[in-house]
Amino acid sequence: MAKLWGGRFGKETSELVDRFNASIEFDSRLWEYDIKGSIAHARMLGKAGIIPKEDADTIVRGLEGIAEDISAGKVEFDVSAEDIHMNVEKLLRERIGDVAGRLHTARSRNDQVALDLRMYVKDQISNVNSAILSLERALVSLAEQHKGTVMPGYTHMQHAQPVPLAHHLLAYVWMLNRDRERFSDCYRRTDVMPLGSGAMAGTSFPLDRRFVAKELGFSTISENSMDAVSDRDFVVEFLSAASILGMHLSRFAEEIIIWNTREFGFVVLDDAMATGSSLMPQKKNPDVAELIRGKTGRLYGNLISMLTTLKGLPLTYNKDLQEDKEPIFDTVDTLLMCVPILEQLLLTTTFCTDTMSAGVKGDFSNATDIADYLVRRGVPFRAAHGIAGRMVQYCEENKKTFSDLSLEELKGFSDKFENTSMVGGAKESIEARDIPGSTAPGRILEQIEAAKRSLY
Ligand code: ARG
Repeated sequence: MAKLWGGRFGKETSELVDRFNASIEFDSRLWEYDIKGSIAHARMLGKAGIIPKEDADTIVRGLEGIAEDISAGKVEFDVSAEDIHMNVEKLLRERIGDVAGRLHTARSRNDQVALDLRMYVKDQISNVNSAILSLERALVSLAEQHKGTVMPGYTHMQHAQPVPLAHHLLAYVWMLNRDRERFSDCYRRTDVMPLGSGAMAGTSFPLDRRFVAKELGFSTISENSMDAVSDRDFVVEFLSAASILGMHLSRFAEEIIIWNTREFGFVVLDDAMATGSSLMPQKKNPDVAELIRGKTGRLYGNLISMLTTLKGLPLTYNKDLQEDKEPIFDTVDTLLMCVPILEQLLLTTTFCTDTMSAGVKGDFSNATDIADYLVRRGVPFRAAHGIAGRMVQYCEENKKTFSDLSLEELKGFSDKFENTSMVGGAKESIEARDIPGSTAPGRILEQIEAAKRSLY
């Protein structure tokens, strides 16, 4: 096929180059944005009298018809037309003839692709944020069900202090809130309309850029045509926010995998959300959680790939930039699978509350409370820490728990001990931590309310 840019060429493009150069196989995803952008551009050209009004109308109708055909699956794209932009223009020419040639007035594929990609990323930010929001809602509802479920809290994967399961689950709500903030922040910088930058230096035609921005729902227009055609910071920011989100999902997935082991037994996965082994009949594997964890690698990879593509690029547009699409498409697909499936996984999981609370019995995770008890009786914290530590050592050597110790034994450690009832269990320990951000039941309720207020 004759190239739209073929004027100065004396030969057909080699078939190998056509295949190598083409992006239509993946950028056809942008068709809707490309057509919307072209419609806005054509309307503006007609309105400003840059092309005849009737031609603009013909172009708009032609583009609308193409959009209908593509969504009805009636269109096959052509590799020799290289990318989505030239494919759409070719289809337009087939439909309305030479008038199609007026559409590209005062426009380059360089500002066109920047526009399409910004529109795409804006939509995907909304999609990803609603998926995150839905996951957060699920977490808050689980937290409400498990306000009173006691489990060991860990540091270094060792029993540290008892916590309500709600507190553990809500920790992820705050992480996910930050993820949504990061995406929304990225949205602000994506929401800038680049069309009118032309190939790189702007255009001699009196374009109404603000009209196009308004038509397409952009808040503002770009200030520098060179920046506008070569900037992909918004892609990097999106991929970076996605990587951080992926890291959060992966940490949660890892916890589910651990909780699901025979050793922990904190959760039982729903049969519909687990998979078997082709060899070992007894196996029920947490593949979903493992894949969420595993897919974090590609999210990071996509970020690094984009950063690397950009790092050596002189201004302005270079074809390297075509490599921006597959990473972002892959990241969007990955997130829009992982976030909802994690939600589904959580909502169908049984939390073994008895096993969780049994885990804090006699595990010395109230040792801090003993130190705190002594501090309230005037013992400096370091000394109190030492006393409680010696008590743990003594108990381990004598196969006892704190609650087995007699007053006499306690007095042996410190004369500040007045009775044995000060050694509360996990419940008392949780209740005692009664400041904002801590575990006491009233604080958990406050936190649930705060979390609910943040879910919009
Ligand atoms: N397919 C190209 C891309 O994705 C469109 C822009 C091409 N511009 C050019 N001057 N070759 O970046």
